[in-house]
Amino acid sequence: MLAQQTTDTTKTPTGSDNTNNHIVTDPDLAAMRALPRKPNESLSHIPGPKGLPIIGSSLNIIKDAPGFVQQLFAEHGPIFKASGFGSTSVNFCDIDAARMILLNKDKNFSSELGWARVAALLRTGILLRDFSDHRVHRRVLQQAFKRPVLENYATRLNAQLKTGVEAWPKQESFKFQTRLKSLLLDNAASLFMGAELGKESNLLNQHFVALLNATVSLSRREIPGTSWFKGRKGTRFLRNWLENQIDHRINSDEQDFFTTLLKLSQDPESEMSIEEVIDHTVLLLFAAHDTTTSTICSIVALLCEHTEWQGILREELQQITADSLSIDDFKQLPKTDQFFNEVLRHYPPIFVVLRRCIREFEYRGIKIPSNTQTNVNIHALHHHPDYWTNPHQFDPERFSAERAEHKKDMFQFLPFGGGAHKCLGINFAEIQTKILLFHLLRNYEVSTKPGRKLAFKHLPMPLPKDGLPVTIKAITR
Ligand code: HEM
Repeated sequence: MLAQQTTDTTKTPTGSDNTNNHIVTDPDLAAMRALPRKPNESLSHIPGPKGLPIIGSSLNIIKDAPGFVQQLFAEHGPIFKASGFGSTSVNFCDIDAARMILLNKDKNFSSELGWARVAALLRTGILLRDFSDHRVHRRVLQQAFKRPVLENYATRLNAQLKTGVEAWPKQESFKFQTRLKSLLLDNAASLFMGAELGKESNLLNQHFVALLNATVSLSRREIPGTSWFKGRKGTRFLRNWLENQIDHRINSDEQDFFTTLLKLSQDPESEMSIEEVIDHTVLLLFAAHDTTTSTICSIVALLCEHTEWQGILREELQQITADSLSIDDFKQLPKTDQFFNEVLRHYPPIFVVLRRCIREFEYRGIKIPSNTQTNVNIHALHHHPDYWTNPHQFDPERFSAERAEHKKDMFQFLPFGGGAHKCLGINFAEIQTKILLFHLLRNYEVSTKPGRKLAFKHLPMPLPKDGLPVTIKAITR
């Protein structure tokens, strides 16, 4: 339970308006809290560009983040610094560094400090906690992702996604990204908050978009009109929206994530406050919503490009004779799995996993001073020429049982991260994606305009630049 916590009202080094309970007896947390709020930026001994005053290399990153990373990797090797969006970070692009940072055996890497920019928006959600504090909260949240709960989600997702796909326009072009996003938000609201959104769906979606855009805003000043201002407004809106549901939820019999945590917060033994429940719920919805939208958009965009794979997946999915897809059916879908993994390798929704080191350390002969932003660059790991054959080629067969390129090392393929903060929604994301593909591909053919060029924008997450206009046609069997 959460009873070991005591209240600590000191401001966190992230400067977030964080007033939650903290375990003050944990020496690693105390060391993290004692660090200056601003990260160390004295990194002249580390290779990498200085970039422009104030904005560093933000423009290069916005223009073409993968190209910029590949250029730095080619020039400097697997450790380089880069400045952008208000801070300078050291990027680590090899397996050993990923293992060291994510396994975090010496408790030297803080997620709360690493994701400080997000902490200023999302306060004390699970990703923004470290060490014993994180462990205690994670244990509680994991209840929402146990096998029986996932099976229940799968049953409900089959019904919701089937209806959703059937309601999309047929034989006429529409923006796939817009429709998908609102369908997935409706899923998440109903499964995690027991809420049917109806007309509110659009408004909530807008605030989630604002929140996501704020994570890569160039300035963090609350000036009206800026993306930071809109993101902060979005957070307040989402928190208020949840607060307004509390009275009704606490007295309901529903068993969704939000209601379950709220009831737990009422237990005198528990020290999870209502504030923390709200923080966890906003972060969960945020972590779930855009990552899955990005993944499914990338999958559909690439299925329109590689039409032979659309046929392969359709044939595989049509072998399931039932009208819904269960978790047990997944083992019959090796090709769907390969395609899913190759999309996540090529277009990982989380480009870099952010951490900050608490103490100085040395890696490959390079001294990294304390309080430095030390990021695991997932995109670079996924394109490292020592780990992948023709890494820039889109090739789902690399994940086949025969080739299994991803099995050389556990820290080579990390779309869902690794270690203590490994994605809580990994199974949920897989279930939602495969069920959507099941209802889409076995009944319909998806295409884009002939001659359309596949182009992605990569920040804040990979998404087709044009919103992915598609046409869906029923197939005759
Ligand atoms: C394809 C979709 C997804 C991808 C690629 C993805 C990726 C990730 C990654 C890389 C992390 C680790 C971040 C870090 O260590 O700093 C993470 C954490 C997390 N993800 Fe996901 N995610 C996805 C979907 C979801 C979904 C659907 C949910 C919820 C239903 C979710 C909830 C979370 C949470 C709560 C964390 C923080 C865990 C912790 O700090 O202990 N994610 N995700």
